[in-house]
Amino acid sequence: MAQEDVFKKIVSHCKEYGFVFPSSEIYDGLGAVYDYGQYGVELKNNIKKYWWDSMTLLHENVVGIDSAIFMHPTIWKASGHVDAFNDPLIDNKDSKKRYRADVLIEDYLAKIDEKTDKEVAKAAKRFGDAFDETQFRSTNPRVLEYQQKRDEMHARFAKALNDSNLEELRRIIIDAEIVCPLSGSRNWTEVRQFNLMFSTDMGSTSEGAMKVYLRPETAQGIFVNFLNVQKSGRMKIPFGIAQIGKAFRNEIVARQFIFRMREFEQMEMQFFIRPGEEMEWFDRWKKTRMTWHKSMGLGDGKYRFHDHDKLAHYANAATDIEFEMPFGFKEVEGIHSRTDFDLSQHEKYSGRKIQYFDPELNKSYTPYVIETSIGVDRVFLSIISGSYCEEMLDNGESRVILKLPPALAPVKLAVLPLVKKDGLPEKAGEIIDMLRFDFRCQYDEKDSIGKRYRRQDAIGTPYCITVDHDTLTDHCVTIRFRDTMEQERVRIDKLNEIIAGKVSMKNLLKKITD
Ligand code: GAP
Repeated sequence: MAQEDVFKKIVSHCKEYGFVFPSSEIYDGLGAVYDYGQYGVELKNNIKKYWWDSMTLLHENVVGIDSAIFMHPTIWKASGHVDAFNDPLIDNKDSKKRYRADVLIEDYLAKIDEKTDKEVAKAAKRFGDAFDETQFRSTNPRVLEYQQKRDEMHARFAKALNDSNLEELRRIIIDAEIVCPLSGSRNWTEVRQFNLMFSTDMGSTSEGAMKVYLRPETAQGIFVNFLNVQKSGRMKIPFGIAQIGKAFRNEIVARQFIFRMREFEQMEMQFFIRPGEEMEWFDRWKKTRMTWHKSMGLGDGKYRFHDHDKLAHYANAATDIEFEMPFGFKEVEGIHSRTDFDLSQHEKYSGRKIQYFDPELNKSYTPYVIETSIGVDRVFLSIISGSYCEEMLDNGESRVILKLPPALAPVKLAVLPLVKKDGLPEKAGEIIDMLRFDFRCQYDEKDSIGKRYRRQDAIGTPYCITVDHDTLTDHCVTIRFRDTMEQERVRIDKLNEIIAGKVSMKNLLKKITD
C-alpha cells in the first residue's frame, strides 16, 4: 500500500476510534487545531508521564516546573522571538497558495535523494549479493550527477538560510524550477518574513491594555525561573529544569495532521552547565534522548539524527531526532546547545543579575545550556504510525491493530464475559473491581467475542480477559495476548502479577537505565 494511503488510514483510524478529532468539527473545523478523544488523551498522558519520569526520576539533578503561558512581553523581545521568530513565505500568483520557501526547497532536495535511492535499489536488485553500495554510489555516473546537483543546491540553500537572504531563497526556487503543486506554475512572488507568534491584549481598558503573546515555546518559562529554582532548591550545576506545556505558533503551512499544529504541547528540559562543557553534555543528551525514543520498540531503524543547516539565533550546535513517518523522516525532537544566550539576554533586559556562584571554581558565571525539546503530538504521531498494522488472519478475516508499547496503551485490559447471563457479567465486574486500582480496564459484553477482540486490537489494548462458565468454579480466565493472539488459561489471583509485568512504566524506565 502506498505510504500516502497508509497515512490517510491512520488519520481516519484516529478519528473513528476516539484518538484525535478535528477541533470545532461541527463548525467545519479550525485549521491545524485538533482535539484528543477518550483514548488519545490516555495515550498522550502516558507519553507525558514516561518523559517526565525519565527526566525527573532517573536524574536526581533534574527537577520540574509548570510556568504560566502568559509572560511579560519583554521576555519575547529578550529571547529574540519578536524580531527573529519568522518563517520565509512565498506565494504562487496563480493558485494564490502560500508556501514556506525553505520547505519547498527541502522537499525538492528530498526528491533528488529519492531518485538516487531508487537507482541504488535498482542496481542492488540487478547485482544481487555481489552489490557494493559504497562503490556504486561513488562511481555510477547518474548517481554522481544527482549527488552533485543536490550538494550544490544544498550549499546555496544553507548559506541563504544562514544569511537570511530572502532573494537568494527565491532564486533557488526559480533555478530549481520548483512548481506550485496546485497550479503547476512557476509564477512566484517575492519571499517575505512572517512572525509566528500569536498575540492578544491583557487588561480591561484600551489605553491600559498590554500586548501579550501566547508562548511559542515553553523554554522561556524555565529561563526566567532559573534563579528561583536554583536558589529555592539549592541546585548545584550541572542541573536541569523540565517542563511540559502548551505552545502556540501561527503556522502558515500547517499540514500533515497533528505533525504541524497551531496549538501543540512541548516537553522541554534546559540543562545548566559550566561554560566550555557544552559539547560533552550535548553528546550525552543526544545519546540519552535517542535511547528514550528507541526504548518504545517501534524499530531502531526508524530513527536518525539530522544536524541543522541553519543554527537558530541562540545555538552553537543543534540536531534533530527524526522518525520515519508515513510521509518521510521528520523531526520529533530538537537538541540544542543554547550557549548562555537566553540567561544573558534576560539579565540585559530585566536588569537583574542572573549568574551562578560555583563553589568548586570559586567564581560566578552565566551558565551555558543544553536543551532537549520534544513535541508531545509528534511523539504521539510517531507511536501511532509505528504501531498501526493491518493483518490477514488464518480464517481469511483481517484485523487492524495498534501494537502500542503496553506501558503507553490507553486501556491495559478488557474484561469480556462470554455471554451476558449466568452470572458471568457479575464475575467480570468482580475482576475489574480487583484490577481497576492498578490498570485502566474496560468492560465489554456486546457482540461476539471475535468482534470484541477486534475492537480492543484497534485501540491497542494488550490483554483481553475472557470470563466463561468454568470461571465460576475453577477461578481461572482466558487471557489473550494482542500481538500474538495466543491464549492462556490463568488463575484470577495471578492476573495482577502477569499484567503488571508487561504494562508497568517501570519496564520502560528500566530499559533506559540498563
Ligand atoms: N525551545 C526550542 C524549540 O521550541 P523547536 O525545534 O522549534 O525548538 C521543538 O520545537 C519541538 O516542538 C519540535 O521538535 C516538535 O516536536 C515540536 N513542535 C514545534 N512546532 C510544532 C508544531 N507546529 N506542531 C507540533 N509540534 C511542534
